[in-house]
Amino acid sequence: MTKLAIIGGTGLTSIDEMQIVSNETVITPYGAPSSSLVTGKLANKEIIFLARHGNDHTIPPHKINYRSNIWALKSVGVTDVIAVAAVGGIHEDIPPGRIAIPDQIIDYTYSRKHTYIEDNLSEVTHIDFTHPYNEQLRQKLLQAVIDCNLDAYNEGVYGATQGPRLETAAEIRRMQIDGCDMVGMTGMPEASLSKELGLNYACCALSVNWAAGKGKSEITMQEIEQAIKVGMVSVKELLVSLLLKV
Ligand code: HPA
Repeated sequence: MTKLAIIGGTGLTSIDEMQIVSNETVITPYGAPSSSLVTGKLANKEIIFLARHGNDHTIPPHKINYRSNIWALKSVGVTDVIAVAAVGGIHEDIPPGRIAIPDQIIDYTYSRKHTYIEDNLSEVTHIDFTHPYNEQLRQKLLQAVIDCNLDAYNEGVYGATQGPRLETAAEIRRMQIDGCDMVGMTGMPEASLSKELGLNYACCALSVNWAAGKGKSEITMQEIEQAIKVGMVSVKELLVSLLLKV
């Protein structure tokens, strides 16, 4: 049976529409997750919510304990994960305010604890990561987009950067040449850790600014916050619609 978790990112530290059933502090071999796991009901379906940056949004992208977060979800029986993420739009069709459902990743992060395949191994294994996102879950998200009459970008390469600073214009130019369509700071190693533990993982990305050098002016926190405020309303609508399908 499917057990769905939502990892909320910047702008989504809780879902007020969710009726809370329980709030569980999980201890993992990798330390504490970013927040407790909140079990609740949304659209009459039970889901688990985890605040990626902590309940008060105080954990920056490079300090998130991704291993603990994903382990905690797995330990309570989660099978499917929707990662909600704020991104900068690189592709001209991903302007601020538009949702994108990426289908590929390029990882530019470094020095993050990025794997469970480490010590005390009986043998070394290598997970297949050809398709970082689960296609069935992605298709359900895309169907939910249609059902909500939203105009989302249906694919795209998510470039995961280290942060917490934003990129230079040259870095974004290079990322575009590499094939990136959007840029965010939390997509990795979250996706590969989910794959290592056998969780179905898909991303609902909200563009909250033009990536560096793509807009008319420098990026401000005010514009990001404004885009988040408006865009997260659609993201929540999408999640409700998705829940009716899983
Ligand atoms: N770059 C990296 N991460 C981001 C951005 C960006 O422009 N916007 C939101 N998250």
